[in-house]
Amino acid sequence: MKVKRRLDYTPPPFTISSVELNIKLHPTHTRVESTLTVSRQGVHNEPLWLDGEGLNLVSVKVDDSDITAQVQVSETGMSVPCTQDTFKLHIVNHISPSTNKALEGLYQAGNAYCTQCEAEGFRRITYFTDRPDVLAVYTVTLSAPEEGYPFLLANGNKVNERTENGERIATWHDPFPKPSYLFAIVAGDFDVVEDNYVTASGRDVKLAVYVDKGYASRATFALQALQRAMRWDEENYGREYDLDVYMIVAVDFFNMGAMENKGLNVFNSKYILADNATATDKDFFNVEAVVAHEYFHNWTGNRVTCRDWFQLSLKEGLTVFRDQQFSADMSSPLSTRLSQINIMREHQFAEDASAMSHPIRPDEVIEMNNFYTVTVYDKGAEVIRMLHAILGKERFRQGMDTYFERHDGKAVTCDDFVDAMQSATTTDLSHFRRWYSQSGTPVLSVGKVVNSESGEVTISLSQHTKPTAGQPDKHPLTLPLRIACYTSTGKVLALSKASEGIKVLSDDLIMFESECAELTFNSHDINPPTEPVVFTALGDFSAPVKVEQSFSVSERSIVAMADPDPFNRWDALQSLYNEGVLRCQAGESANLNDLFSVVKEVITLHSHDAHLLAELLSVPSVESLIQQQDDVDPIKLSQARAEFCRCLAISLNAELTAMLQAPSASTYAYEQEQVGERKLRHALLMLLSYLPDTNAFIEKLYQVSDNMTDTLTALNAAQRCNSQTFIALMHDFEQKWHGDSLVLDKWFGLHATQPSRDILSTLTLLKQHPKFADDNPNRVRALIGSFAFYNTEGFHAKDGSGYKYVTDYLMELDKVNPQVAARIVTPLIQWQKFDQAHQQLMKTQLSRLLNEPGLSKDLFEKVSKSLA
Ligand code: ARG
Ligand code: ZN
Repeated sequence: MKVKRRLDYTPPPFTISSVELNIKLHPTHTRVESTLTVSRQGVHNEPLWLDGEGLNLVSVKVDDSDITAQVQVSETGMSVPCTQDTFKLHIVNHISPSTNKALEGLYQAGNAYCTQCEAEGFRRITYFTDRPDVLAVYTVTLSAPEEGYPFLLANGNKVNERTENGERIATWHDPFPKPSYLFAIVAGDFDVVEDNYVTASGRDVKLAVYVDKGYASRATFALQALQRAMRWDEENYGREYDLDVYMIVAVDFFNMGAMENKGLNVFNSKYILADNATATDKDFFNVEAVVAHEYFHNWTGNRVTCRDWFQLSLKEGLTVFRDQQFSADMSSPLSTRLSQINIMREHQFAEDASAMSHPIRPDEVIEMNNFYTVTVYDKGAEVIRMLHAILGKERFRQGMDTYFERHDGKAVTCDDFVDAMQSATTTDLSHFRRWYSQSGTPVLSVGKVVNSESGEVTISLSQHTKPTAGQPDKHPLTLPLRIACYTSTGKVLALSKASEGIKVLSDDLIMFESECAELTFNSHDINPPTEPVVFTALGDFSAPVKVEQSFSVSERSIVAMADPDPFNRWDALQSLYNEGVLRCQAGESANLNDLFSVVKEVITLHSHDAHLLAELLSVPSVESLIQQQDDVDPIKLSQARAEFCRCLAISLNAELTAMLQAPSASTYAYEQEQVGERKLRHALLMLLSYLPDTNAFIEKLYQVSDNMTDTLTALNAAQRCNSQTFIALMHDFEQKWHGDSLVLDKWFGLHATQPSRDILSTLTLLKQHPKFADDNPNRVRALIGSFAFYNTEGFHAKDGSGYKYVTDYLMELDKVNPQVAARIVTPLIQWQKFDQAHQQLMKTQLSRLLNEPGLSKDLFEKVSKSLA
């Protein structure tokens, strides 16, 4: 299959400055009529190539003369002979949205029509130069039967709408030139929630959220989140919205989270619909974050877009960073940061350790949809965060202003972005750029020597990145390190010397750029030999690396109690938990008391802060523990983790139980104090559920809960604690919520993750559930995705049955929706971390997949790479 390479980029031989589309909607015969203004770029006599997939061509004209017989049509597009330098091209083709189950291009979601064009979906609607560096002004006319399609939406502003002979017809014009991936249309009948927004400069913008009939009350939170995001981007980046209307449409059939189409976002309903009865605290958080993310794209993505798809992180890494900053401002900064760090450690480190490892700016791609990854998005955001740390808040903002000034209305590269940042600082960023080209997770090793005579503390730093797929040789990267050196009583040691390879940016921030280097701290009036000194290197997780540092239990205790940085305090406990799990794995579960007394001390110290306590009491997930080891037996590891949690619960039973409270009488609201309370209750029950006598509390909690957060806490705890209770509560839950697809997805997910011996029969039964549907990505992810990603003992079963089950399913799913199939194959291609026996079983299934006739590009790319 064809590999595309970043370095092969050439500018487009033709550009298209305006597009007029006339789309007559029909389930199987939608007629698309397109008039393009085309100009040759430079001097050449090549024919015009237009991308097109799955289209039925009717006719082609150049400036009024019919050339249908002269064009060459293939499976991937058509070649148009042309001699003029500027001409109008008129194309007519048909498509069939109702049979489009891949959900790319134009498709039907329930009764509505909608589109998804990023990355390369526009070519499934009509023939076009479907690449992000061709920017055109679009005018779109839609028509559909009045009955059933009162709303006809497209990008930009509506310029005309009428009814003729029972047909509804609407015309939209988007004045901002845009790449085809930002094109969108929607047609259907909805409930609409509307409001307005007055921009900083006083312009009035109409806001509208379109949802399924009957769901209006679940859309108000999203609408308000949009208003908060609009204000925030004005206040923090000076960026205003630019059209007269901003529309969001929520649909139940969507391959991913949401899409930032100009003026007309299309969302997975999971990230719009939320009310007090059906949404968890986490759902509210995600709705606000995704609404903001798509809104922020209007500047970082739409006004300034990507030259080619290899530059995807230009808009995604930057926009994720911006939405994280927003979420931190709207909710708990610490929880926001820690959940991001967990994504890095659980999923991004895993990707880096696999054959799909790629730099945030990939070099080679077969199927672009495979590169909407945690690396491009989340590691991409960490790279922006490092720039933010290095430049500081003010200069980062200056750099952003320069970026917008220079590139508004253009399609640019990651290098252009770093150039703009460079203009705002005297710190040399040339070495920093390696983050864009080098893949893999660097390991930072930290050593410490205390010289009792001189009173000096010497810290040695070294960095190393293991070879990854296609990149055997690694170089040192620029690591901004937020450092601290202090004694057990909190006396801070001053940095007195930094060796070559280190730039000191401030008292607590250095840039480490070489393979190894040294820092020296002075202990003047303190006496290190009697007062232990600790050093921490990665405050706020200031670089996306793993740290190797030999810390004794008592040193970790000092960090957990006294470090100036909350991430470090949390992480010290995480590493103690990790150590505890390792001891349990080695059969030493009787020897954990030293760890537990540290935990007790730390939680006593922080007993006033529910958010922090909840985080401190969260034992690392199996997924993140896997990334700390090699040659992993996942079943043993999962059992060791369970054993550790059980021992922790026994040892801290009194403390945990004392903190465990039933929900307070106040009714549910998504506000931070309540969120903290519920989060703490969740963390406590996740531990106490290992003790059988917690069952009564769990049942009670389920009964009294007036909200989805506590209800799910009860179900999760029951899943661990008592299978009878779990079955009974799940039954009740299904009775109550069977009519609500988003809530039912939670139910499917809970079933899929339960630690049951006949989980595969459960899955088979659930696949036959009337509400399960292979063509609905949310449902498939809830059942099969949850199993593959999170049911460690079922998926990694010793006989390989879990792997085979998922593989069998993916073979079928690939024929329906390759993009979703390629997502769910992820845990299977990440075999590198496991022991030989598991690796073998995983590879056996991957080989079966690879031999499957007609395998999609999506699966082919990931599976073939993983077996190479
Ligand atoms: N740009 C969208 C977002 O911000 C995601 C689109 C993903 N498209 C895809 N084909 N995977 O988040
Ligand atoms: Zn995005």
